[in-house]
Amino acid sequence: MLNENTIAIIKSTVPVLEVHGTAITKRFYQLLFASHPELMNVFNHANQRQGKQQTALANTVYAAALYIDKLETILPAVKQIAHKHRSLGITADQYPIVGQNLLQAIKEVLGDAATDEILNAWAEAYGVIANVFISVEAEMYKEAEEQQGGWAGYRAFRIERKVQESHVITSFYLVPEDGGAIAAFEPGQYVSVKMSIPDQKNTHIRQYSLSDAPGKPYYRISVKREDSQPGKDAGVVSVYLHEQVKEGDVLWLSAPAGDFTLDLKETRPVVLISGGVGLTPMVSMLNTLVDTNSDRPITFIHAAQNGQLHALKQQVEEKIGQAAQAKAYWCYAQPTEQDAGTYHKEGYVDLPWLQEVIPSKDAVYYFCGPTPFMAHINRQLLEWGVPAADIHYEFFGPKGSLDEAEKEPVA
Ligand SMILES: Cc1cc2nc3c(=O)[nH]c(=O)nc-3n(C[C@H](O)[C@H](O)[C@H](O)COP(=O)(O)OP(=O)(O)OC[C@H]3O[C@@H](n4cnc5c(N)ncnc54)[C@H](O)[C@@H]3O)c2cc1C
Ligand code: HEM
Repeated sequence: MLNENTIAIIKSTVPVLEVHGTAITKRFYQLLFASHPELMNVFNHANQRQGKQQTALANTVYAAALYIDKLETILPAVKQIAHKHRSLGITADQYPIVGQNLLQAIKEVLGDAATDEILNAWAEAYGVIANVFISVEAEMYKEAEEQQGGWAGYRAFRIERKVQESHVITSFYLVPEDGGAIAAFEPGQYVSVKMSIPDQKNTHIRQYSLSDAPGKPYYRISVKREDSQPGKDAGVVSVYLHEQVKEGDVLWLSAPAGDFTLDLKETRPVVLISGGVGLTPMVSMLNTLVDTNSDRPITFIHAAQNGQLHALKQQVEEKIGQAAQAKAYWCYAQPTEQDAGTYHKEGYVDLPWLQEVIPSKDAVYYFCGPTPFMAHINRQLLEWGVPAADIHYEFFGPKGSLDEAEKEPVA
C-alpha cells in the first residue's frame, strides 16, 4: 500500500494533470505506438482519431488516483473496463508498457514541474491501480476459458448465415469451426471480432453485441454498415463485413463479455428502449425473457429513421406475440409514405409518449443507441422520477458521460 506522503502527492497533482489531460494523453499514445507498434493491432483507430479513447484511459487513471486510498469504490468502473480488456486480450505484461509511457508523457508535458518526487509517487500509484486491473482481469480470463463451451483468446467461427435485416443492418449467424460447444452469455453482452482485412497494415478489433438469446447453437451479431458521410470515412470493419464477407467465411471471436446485462433475478417490469442499431442487445434481452417464459411485463420501444432502416421488426413482433404481457412500439423520426399505419409515433421519443406507453414507471430500464439519443432518454427518465439505479445503458464505443453528451443534438 502507498504511504501517506505518496497519497498526498498524488491527490494534490491530479488537478494539474487533468488540466494538461489532452496534451499528456496525446503524447502518451505517440510514445506508446512508437515504442510498441504491435499495439496498433489492438487499439481502435477510429476511437483514437476522435479522441474518445485517449480521454477514457487517462481520465480513468486520474479518477482511480483520487480514490487511491479506497480503490474498492471504483471497482464497478474497473470491472466495466476489465470486461473490455479481457474481450480484447489485454495481458498483464502490457501494463508496465502503458505505465512507462504514461509516466514519460507526464514528464515531458509538465517539464520542470514534474519533480522526481512527483514522478515516483505516480509510478507507485500506477502500479497499485494496474494491479487491481490485472487481478480482476485474471479472474475474468479464468472464467471465460473454464466455463462450459468457453475458450481463451480468439476462436474461429464460420458464418452459417448472413441475413439482411434492414437497408443498413445485416445479421451474421456464427458457429464454431471446431464443432464444439459455445459458452452461454448474459443477454446484453458483446463479443470482440478480430479482422484481418486485405491491404490493411493492422488487424482491427470491434465489439458486437449478441443479438439473439443465449442457449442457441450459434451466436448472432447484427452489424450496421457505417457508410461514409461528409467529413467522415466509411467504417472499416462494418463495410467490409457487409460487402466482402460471405457465408462460409470465418470470423475470429473472443468469448462474450460485458457488464450491461439483464438482471434475470429481477421480477419488476422491464422497459427496453433502443435507437438504430442499438436494438441488438435489446433484442437479446427480449428474446431471453420470452424464451424463458418470464411473466415480467415487457415494453419494447424502438426508434428508427423510417421503416426501411428498421431492422428485425418482424422477428421482434413475432416474439412479442408469444408473450401476453409484452408490447412493442415504433417511433420513426422521418417516416416515408410506405410507412403509413406501421408505426406508433412520428418524431422523437419524448416523455409524454413514454408515459403513455409504459404501463408503470416502477420498472427496470435498459437502453442503447447513439450517444445523443441515450442522453435524451436518460434525461426524460430522470425527469419522470425514475431512480438512476433502475436505469442501465450501453455505449457502442468507449464509455462516456451522458451529461456531456446532452449538449449535442439528438438527431
Ligand atoms: C459494447 C459494444 C457493442 C457494440 N455492438 C454493436 C452492434 O451490435 N452492432 C453494430 O453495428 N455496432 C456495434 N458496436 C460498434 C462497433 O464495434 C463498431 O464501432 C462499428 O461497427 C464501426 O466500426 P467500423 O470499423 O465499421 O468503423 P470505424 O472504421 O471504426 O469508424 C467508426 C466511425 O468513425 C467514423 N470515422 C472514421 N474515421 C474518422 C475520422 N477521422 N474522424 C471522425 N470520424 C471518423 C466512421 O465514419 C465511422 O462512422 C458496438 C460497440 C461496442 C463498444
Ligand atoms: C491502469 C491502466 C489502464 C486503465 C486505467 C485503462 C483504461 C481504459 C478505459 C477507460 C478504456 C475504455 C473502456 C470502454 O470502452 O468503455 C480502455 C480501453 C482499452 N484499453 Fe485500457 N486501460 C489501462 C491499461 C491498458 C493496457 C495495459 C492496455 C494494453 C495495451 C490497454 C488497452 C486498451 C484497449 C485496446 C482498449 C480499447 C480501445 C478502443 O477500442 O478504442 N489498456 N482502457
